[in-house]
Amino acid sequence: MVIKTKMTMKDIDWNEIWKELMQESSWSRRRRNGDMTDFWDKRAKHYSESIKRNNHADRIIAKLDIDLDCTILDIGAGPGTLAIPLAKTTKHVTAIDPSSGMLACLKENAMSEGLENITCINKKWEDIEIGSDIAEHDIVLASHSLTMLDIKEALSKMNDVAKRYVYLFSFAGGRMCDYNTLWPKLYGEEYQPGPDYIYLYNVLYRMGIYANVEITNYEHKQQFSNLDDAIAQWKENLDVLTPDAEEVIKSHLSRNLIEEDGALWSKREMSSAMIWWRKKENGNE
Ligand SMILES: C[S@@+](CC[C@H](N)C(=O)[O-])C[C@H]1O[C@@H](n2cnc3c(N)ncnc32)[C@H](O)[C@@H]1O
Repeated sequence: MVIKTKMTMKDIDWNEIWKELMQESSWSRRRRNGDMTDFWDKRAKHYSESIKRNNHADRIIAKLDIDLDCTILDIGAGPGTLAIPLAKTTKHVTAIDPSSGMLACLKENAMSEGLENITCINKKWEDIEIGSDIAEHDIVLASHSLTMLDIKEALSKMNDVAKRYVYLFSFAGGRMCDYNTLWPKLYGEEYQPGPDYIYLYNVLYRMGIYANVEITNYEHKQQFSNLDDAIAQWKENLDVLTPDAEEVIKSHLSRNLIEEDGALWSKREMSSAMIWWRKKENGNE
C-alpha cells in the first residue's frame, strides 16, 4: 500500500478556500449575508467622482488587447470606470452591476460623454443567464468586482461567454493600510480583506486554465477637496455614522493626508494583479 505523505495542487479545493475566506472577510461578517449592493448604492456618487480624479482606468486599459470592432463585457462595471473610456474606443460595451446606484451614475457619465453604445444590466453575475441575458463578447473583464462565493462557477461562465480574452483585476497581498488601521479602532477586530489574486490563479489552474499574471506596484492616489470631504468619504467607505467614529476617522486623516496644490491627497503604495488568458475553442491557449 502506498501512503501519501505530500499534498499536491490536486488535493487542495481552492474554490472552497476562496469561499471560506470570502465568508470570513470583515465586510462579509459585517453584512451577515455578504450582500454589498446597498453599500455600493450609497457609495456610488462619491466613487463615481473619485475615479475621475485618479489614473486607475488608464493604467488598466493600456494593458488590454482591444480594437475599434470589439465588444466588451464589463462585470461589476460600477459607475463606468472602464466602461466609459472603453465605449469610446470599441464597438459596444455591456455593463453588468447589481447596484442600481452605480448604474445610474454610469448612465449619467455616458450621457455627459454623448455615448450611446453601452447596455446596462442590473444583475449580479451569478444571476446572468448566457443566451437570454447576454450573448458572447470578444473581451470579458472584471475589475475589483469578484465577490462571487462560487468563484469557479463565475469564472467558468466568464470563460464560456468570452470569444477572445478574459481579464481579471484584483489586489495582490495587503490592501489599503487605512483599513488595517481604522477597522480595529471602529469595530474592535483586525481587518480581514478577503482572498487576493493567488486564489483566483489557483482556481483557474484546477479548471485547466493556465492564465498569465502581471503584478503592478503603483501609487494609489485619491484627491479630496478638503478634510470634511475626506471624512465624509471615509465614513461611507467604512459604513459608520456615529460622532465617535467620525472623530477616529478625522484624527487618522488629519495625520495622514498630504496637502498639495490646494487639495488634500491620500497616497498609498499598492500592488495590483492582472490575470488574463486567451480563449481557445476548447479552453484556453
Ligand atoms: C470596487 S467597485 C469596482 C468598479 C469598477 N469595476 C472599477 O474597477 O472601478 C465593485 C463593483 O462591483 C459590483 N459587484 C459586486 N459584486 C458583484 C457581482 N456578484 N456581480 C456583478 N457585479 C458585482 C459592485 O456593485 C460595484 O459596483
